Amino acid sequence: MSSEVINFLQSRRSVVAKKMLPVEPSDDQVANIIRCGLRVPDHSNVQPWRIIVLKGDTRQKFSEQVVLPAAEANAAKSNEEMTDTLRELELARLLRGGIVIAVLSKPLVPHKIPIWEQQLSAGAVCSHLLIAAQSLDFAAQWITEWLAYDPTIIKALGGNPEHDLVAGFIHIGGKAEAPNERKRPDESEIVSYWQ
Ligand SMILES: Cc1cc2nc3c(=O)[nH]c(=O)nc-3n(C[C@H](O)[C@H](O)[C@H](O)COP(=O)(O)O)c2cc1C
Repeated sequence: MSSEVINFLQSRRSVVAKKMLPVEPSDDQVANIIRCGLRVPDHSNVQPWRIIVLKGDTRQKFSEQVVLPAAEANAAKSNEEMTDTLRELELARLLRGGIVIAVLSKPLVPHKIPIWEQQLSAGAVCSHLLIAAQSLDFAAQWITEWLAYDPTIIKALGGNPEHDLVAGFIHIGGKAEAPNERKRPDESEIVSYWQ
């Protein structure tokens, strides 16, 4: 069993969201993936994260009611024209794949546990969700794009833009084809044994 886990971790790959098939995991699979996401280390058990599932019609609703108005407001602020093509792109952003799980970093502030540590734990939630979805043979990708940094989006997900951040949107869907391997780090440049 442990070698299976090692083999999986050393060979898993993300699939870019735009290439995913619109395959939705079952409710049981989503619950299982989320359970893995919540089993991350977090210092002092502060649980500094929230998980927001966007599935079915709510993806479309969130795109129409939150994403598009935010994109239009940003375009207006920077005097850019919001063309029909851009509008379509924004409306389709969260519709890639079958389901999107948003992870909000929601640190306790002020708190004895540094915010950085609490944010790291939110990153770990994203990793666990990604790995769990991929272990069930779904296509999955961790995405931030502009949405993750937009105060309107953070608020709509239940966050306070003053200290909460979107750690990631985990897109999960079906694989159209097996992903190609990508360049992996040269361990000799990254790893050293201190002497
Ligand atoms: C915090 C974070 C944010 C990311 N945001 C994006 C993004 O917005 N768009 C994108 O194409 N890839 C993004 N990526 C990269 C991909 O999710 C992924 O790392 C890459 O496709 C290779 O994945 P793999 O090593 O799991 O195969 C992000 C990765 C991380 C860790």
